[in-house]
Amino acid sequence: MALRNILLHPDPRLKKVCDPVASVSDETRRLADDMLETMYDAPGIGLAAPQIGINARMLVMDCMKEDDDTPRPMVLINPQVIWRSDESGTYDEGCLSIPDIYAEVVRPAEVKVRWMGIDGKTVEEQFDELWATCVQHEIDHLDGKLFIDHLKPLKRQMITRKMVKLKKEMARG
Ligand code: NI
Repeated sequence: MALRNILLHPDPRLKKVCDPVASVSDETRRLADDMLETMYDAPGIGLAAPQIGINARMLVMDCMKEDDDTPRPMVLINPQVIWRSDESGTYDEGCLSIPDIYAEVVRPAEVKVRWMGIDGKTVEEQFDELWATCVQHEIDHLDGKLFIDHLKPLKRQMITRKMVKLKKEMARG
């Protein structure tokens, strides 16, 4: 397993609609392991393939974030939301590609998602609370969408300016 470099917003690779994964190969399994390792190391509760520069519809997540929780690493390939609740939920969202910036995003409170597991089998599960927020946030990444795209333009521009500045500072070292 290897840690991968997480891309920071703004980056054109984070704005692309990703391609479906045709089948699970050794490379897919390696990528899933690397993504999980990178996510836990960050630390984060979700990571999508485009965030490490891979144009593939694949994400990992584990929202069991308390120290005494049993980890539940999940790998979702070609995930699709197949049902959304009418009821909405609001979460203070963050993103590994937009570090240290958080903002409230309103999304459906519950979603049912269908995906291909790392064993190649089709899986369906209904998510609520933090899991619902996380899975929708990560699926957005596969469509080139960031959580700040749910905010008002002025707020989004302010965050992007902050990130441009941060990236310049990081480049200077
Ligand atoms: Ni994110």
